[in-house]
Amino acid sequence: MLTLAISKGRIYEEALPLLAQVGIVPTVDPDKSRKLILPTNRDDVQFLIIRATDVPTYVEYGAADLGIAGKDVLVEYDAQGLYEPLDLGIARCRMMTAAMEGSVPAPRGRLRVATKYVKTTHRYFASRGIQAEIIKLYGSMELAPLVGLAHCIVDLVDTGNTLRANGLEPRDLIMEVSSRLIINKAAMKMKHREVMSFVEELKRVVSERS
Ligand code: ADP
Ligand code: PRP
Ligand code: MG
Repeated sequence: MLTLAISKGRIYEEALPLLAQVGIVPTVDPDKSRKLILPTNRDDVQFLIIRATDVPTYVEYGAADLGIAGKDVLVEYDAQGLYEPLDLGIARCRMMTAAMEGSVPAPRGRLRVATKYVKTTHRYFASRGIQAEIIKLYGSMELAPLVGLAHCIVDLVDTGNTLRANGLEPRDLIMEVSSRLIINKAAMKMKHREVMSFVEELKRVVSERS
């Protein structure tokens, strides 16, 4: 049995066609069912439906053999026990700093940054010699500068609509983000043949797309 950890929403929607092209189709729709383990058309493949930020955890501990996770999540999680053999090219966006339109980039006191990517943000500002105060949020980061909680934010930007709708503007690029296939190290040894044939097939499908 191969177990693949994946999050509902955009990653699931964008991964589904890729998985279908390698012959794997879930037989239950996660939006219509409360099931968290989804069977597929193949007896030897199942999906675990979990939060995006939990995907590396399940794979690192071997509760899932494989997973699909955003580069943003992988960098923040800082996993050691994982292989990351393939960029799937889906759920593309950028991690950026953003601030109120026209606001001064450097306040007089300590810079306060709101984000859910605490470690990545700390590392980014430290690498530029800025000891920022990081305020951990779990969502709606775009609100923080509007109400004076933070001077700027670190968040994902795709179309820029969310920033614009809240009077913010993108500033600096931290990283390009897309979703990656990740593999548990022990599964790579113990289930080498199954895992590698899945990886090779996905690789072919992904390269045919670009
Ligand atoms: P969450 O509930 O964690 O926000 P999402 O489905 O929104 O779950 O995000 C999952 C992953 O999809 C993120 O880790 C990121 O890699 C990518 N992503 C998030 N927002 C966007 C976006 N607006 N456009 C493209 N990709 C995105
Ligand atoms: C993501 C991200 C930004 C927005 C960026 O939010 O956290 O808020 O998309 O996309 P845009 O540049 O195209 O506007 P998401 O839609 O995932 O909402 P949630 O994570 O807060 O549920
Ligand atoms: Mg989101």
